[in-house]
Amino acid sequence: MNQFKLAEEPSSSELRVERACISIGRVQIVQDVSFNAQAGEFVAIIGPSGSGKTTLLKAMTGELAYSGSIRLAGMETGKLSAEYMAQMRGVLPQASQISFPLNVAEVVGLGVIDRRQGRDARARRIKDALAKVGLHGFEGRGYQELSGGEQQRVQLARVLCQVWEPVADDGSPRWLFLDEPVSSLDIKHQYQIMQLASGYAAAGGGVVAVMHDLNLTATFADRILVMKAGKRLSFGRRDDVMQADLLSDAYDFPLALTRFGQSGVPLVVPGADTAG
Ligand SMILES: Nc1ncnc2c1ncn2[C@@H]1O[C@H](COP(=O)(O)OP(=O)(O)OP(=O)(O)O)[C@@H](O)[C@H]1O
Ligand SMILES: [Mg+2]
Repeated sequence: MNQFKLAEEPSSSELRVERACISIGRVQIVQDVSFNAQAGEFVAIIGPSGSGKTTLLKAMTGELAYSGSIRLAGMETGKLSAEYMAQMRGVLPQASQISFPLNVAEVVGLGVIDRRQGRDARARRIKDALAKVGLHGFEGRGYQELSGGEQQRVQLARVLCQVWEPVADDGSPRWLFLDEPVSSLDIKHQYQIMQLASGYAAAGGGVVAVMHDLNLTATFADRILVMKAGKRLSFGRRDDVMQADLLSDAYDFPLALTRFGQSGVPLVVPGADTAG
């Protein structure tokens, strides 16, 4: 039996945001934003601090109310059950604080929501998830004792446990919503985690990630949404969005672009008049 009742829902491997508006209290934070993400691609959301990236992500994950439309698998996310959402999408928040004295295995184990799993399978899943984020053997460590970057990777391992298979048994894609997944990481782990996320997309899942690092975004994102002051400034394929004038406008800061290596990945650097 289909436990997600997908038979009643239009088949869709898309996240579609149409004219989304989000208010907190009386203040409208996000205005009229539209974009979409397909399963199999990595979509990045960039833009200056305070431009509404986290607010938009929270509406997509069901944490904040919205007007307009945000559909996952053809269904308004605001109407999807908490159980369905838990099975189909994992969320890495921008800041995750845990005040209980849990060890790493216990934190990661919070993501194992499949109650059919026995103890051994559960322990194996936790171990595999930790290995994926470069924290092999960290199970018994106290979460509070870890560095900021280690904690960030433990949280990602928790999210991976929740939506381990990028595609569910019935063929529906699962989704990763990541809010600045590499902000506390060194360069090696930044690449490791970005590769992990883009591998999830390559295996058929969907990935939407809020990013500050423009060069990692240029390297890994298929399409990019640029936010500015709560609105969509641009949305499109990487090479169309990675333009010096567009990015300079977004960040209100002169930026220049060069191309790196034979792959021609755009490399963003401060504009000439910002040096010295
Ligand atoms: N709970 C809240 N109450 C009032 N204002 C809020 C609340 N949450 C966010 N805001 C405001 O909404 C705007 C957008 O915040 P948001 O967290 O979405 O920005 P962001 O683009 O994710 O920024 P950053 O890159 O710094 O994380 C900011 O001006 C912020 O002060
Ligand atoms: Mg944010």
